[in-house]
Amino acid sequence: MCAEDANVHVTSDRAAWLVGPSNKCSNPAPQPVRPYRLVLLGAPGVGKGTQAELLSQQTAACHLSTGDIFRAAKSLDACRCTPAMTAAMDYMHRGDLVPDETVLAILRERGKCLRCSGGFLLDGFPRTLAQAQALDGLLATMNVKLDAVIDYRLPMDEIISRLSGRRTCVKCRAVYHVETRPPQVENTCDTCGGELVQREDDRPESVRVRMSAYLHSTAPLIEFYQPRGLLITVDAHGSPWEIFGRTMRELRVREICG
Ligand code: AP5
Repeated sequence: MCAEDANVHVTSDRAAWLVGPSNKCSNPAPQPVRPYRLVLLGAPGVGKGTQAELLSQQTAACHLSTGDIFRAAKSLDACRCTPAMTAAMDYMHRGDLVPDETVLAILRERGKCLRCSGGFLLDGFPRTLAQAQALDGLLATMNVKLDAVIDYRLPMDEIISRLSGRRTCVKCRAVYHVETRPPQVENTCDTCGGELVQREDDRPESVRVRMSAYLHSTAPLIEFYQPRGLLITVDAHGSPWEIFGRTMRELRVREICG
């Protein structure tokens, strides 16, 4: 079912997730398929967003990235951006984690995205033990169960090279890489023609802070999910489609997908 030449950048608009719960998503109604409810774990730059895009195209699950919410807020005009959101963007640019209370308030506001009939792919959330416990509580009140937590693994030097070469479209947020996924026209998005830029938090000084936050706050979540039988470790070497294939195989082995 996976077509290697499919356009990786086509995605649903996720308006309720990115802009707020009063917005309606213009996603096509999902076919009656089994919903996937997955958390994608892994260090910054390992390729979680790339895999989430592939998974969301091949399943009905919606790609829910907390980082994307903060980046989308950047394009709001000042009067629509709350002080908490403005502060969150400062944390993000430095590479620090946004405080739990801000992230959790944002998630609770968007609780209905976790009940989406196509399921969800949480990318970049949870990132701390407090967030993982809050997610457990929220899902329990909705009677929704996680299927699996996928932990993508890659050596640090390869992660740094993925981060330093990443370029992102200012308009549609499509993700490229100067060597492994170059656009057809330099610095121009293949999908919408927008300008491609380097993320502010991909500068070396922010990357160091992000890696340290990952090791101290997020990596311990492996120990949180392992005893619950939810953890699946996936080798993140190779092309995005190879990694996607590995992910789907692991889900099939556990009878999480058909
Ligand atoms: P977030 O946006 O979640 O960033 P991240 O976790 O650091 O992850 P990245 O988006 O950097 O990388 P990725 O793993 O998605 O890799 P990608 O697919 O792009 O968070 C940003 C910030 O927001 C945080 O630092 C924090 O401040 C804040 N924040 C967000 N959520 C929060 C939370 N819950 N709590 C507190 N703070 C929060 O790939 C990277 C590059 O590699 C791309 O160029 C891609 O084209 C390339 N690539 C991907 N796969 C491959 C492959 N297989 N081969 C070759 N190249 C590849």
